[in-house]
Amino acid sequence: MVFSTLLLETLNSAQKVAVLTGAGISAESGIPTFREAQTGLWSKYRPEDLATPSAFRRDPKLVWEWYQWRRQLIEQSNPNPGHHAIAQFEGLVPSFTVITQNVDGFHQSAGSSTVIELHGNIMRTICFDNRHKIDEWDDYEIPPRCPICRSYLRPDVVWFGEGLPKTALENAIQETRECNVFLAIGTSAVVEPAASLPWIAKENGALLIEVNPNTTPVTRNADYVFHKPAGEFLPELVHALAT
Ligand code: OAD
Repeated sequence: MVFSTLLLETLNSAQKVAVLTGAGISAESGIPTFREAQTGLWSKYRPEDLATPSAFRRDPKLVWEWYQWRRQLIEQSNPNPGHHAIAQFEGLVPSFTVITQNVDGFHQSAGSSTVIELHGNIMRTICFDNRHKIDEWDDYEIPPRCPICRSYLRPDVVWFGEGLPKTALENAIQETRECNVFLAIGTSAVVEPAASLPWIAKENGALLIEVNPNTTPVTRNADYVFHKPAGEFLPELVHALAT
């Protein structure tokens, strides 16, 4: 692929780059996205049955087992060339931050060193009542119980109706305001507050780039739009920047 000289020059001279990723970056690792027709998780399951505090109160076993199934999928999968290209990108600019809505930890496994997890991490476990961080538990009961307070254990992810981790959100907004270039990669950009970050970047003067095979609310305001799978496009971009 041939990139415009202006794009490559802007990226090469950027002091600060921020990247927002969504489920699409992990699609090529075999992890289902949420909102795509047919294959998205929310086409098969109702979020209000599985990803809210009231769903967990109603049927904790169902919710725990659904997340165990997702954990297993992630454990059996690996970061793909898109994650690796993002990790490589970091070495090409003075300051680089990954802001992700994903809970799979693939950016860190691929080698990215500054990753802000807006929606938590599915591999971590906390308890429902007190958010004690728990590494080990007995599993003769499903869900298992917190060894400290005996409330049920749950994944350390953000459910609908819950607030985002405060420091993560503050840092994400700051990095977004300060960056020269902002890339929105593999997100449908409809879930707030992450969906507002591309606008905040643009309002603060950043070049806005979108990488997504499909059109999203970001598309019409982006300076560059690449309708390609991230795992194909990003290695080409990073290769062009590095040579
Ligand atoms: P979505 O499932 O809403 O969107 C995935 C996006 O990835 C879509 O716009 C696809 O077009 C795009 N996509 C698919 N394959 C791709 C590929 N190979 N390369 C690049 N893009 C690709 O997922 P998110 O935007 O991440 O939150 O959803 C945001 C939040 O909604 C999630 O974090 C989750 C969900 O409900 C919670 O569970 C709280």
